[in-house]
Amino acid sequence: FVPKFLKGKKIVITAGPTREYIDPVRFISNPSSGKMGYALAEMAVAAGADVVLISGKTCLKPPYNLRNFIEVETVDEMRRAVLKNLEGTDIFISAAAVGDFTPVQKAENKIKKNCGEFILKLKRTPDILAEVSASKKVKTVVGFAAETENIVENARKKLMEKNLDFIVANDVKKGVFGSDKTSCIVIGEDFEKRFSGTKREVAFSILKVVGGMLN
Ligand code: C5P
Repeated sequence: FVPKFLKGKKIVITAGPTREYIDPVRFISNPSSGKMGYALAEMAVAAGADVVLISGKTCLKPPYNLRNFIEVETVDEMRRAVLKNLEGTDIFISAAAVGDFTPVQKAENKIKKNCGEFILKLKRTPDILAEVSASKKVKTVVGFAAETENIVENARKKLMEKNLDFIVANDVKKGVFGSDKTSCIVIGEDFEKRFSGTKREVAFSILKVVGGMLN
């Protein structure tokens, strides 16, 4: 039994990795499994929310009873899907591992390996989370921070810089990527609490915090 504390709330969640193509058959990505974002979507539906899940390519089945499931590949596609779905959104949770760099140029045809050395030039991708926060269209904006050192300090810096309501800090050295279990610290301006357990259990706790049930 899950209390319906998110009834009537629209929640947009991003999940999984992004892919930035170098040529038609090669891309740059990361090891995100999407499990945390999918667990959040599943638990948010269980708590009565109207959920839009925008996901990079994963091996997971989308949870039942979503209002909308949108699969994307690139940062650009994820950004467009997010911006298109912001209307009337109460909570935005950016659990996706959004790629920070994309090739300056994408080759139209497969790059031949007989060229010997190949230098790839990258540029920054747009920051979707910062853009959502700056748009002021969403009441509660929640980011994730994968950190390897000074976890709380670095996450607090991101909370301020991106003007977020909450940030969920993960220690990637503890191997949260791909695991069914996780441990994180949820940080808000006057809030700091550690949660550990299965990604579903932790997702439920995160939703209680960002939904205003725990602070
Ligand atoms: O600055 P950093 O990449 O560590 O911030 C992580 C948070 O920002 C995550 O919530 C991630 O989903 C989001 N992000 C984004 N767009 C990017 C990079 C990160 O929305 N280009």
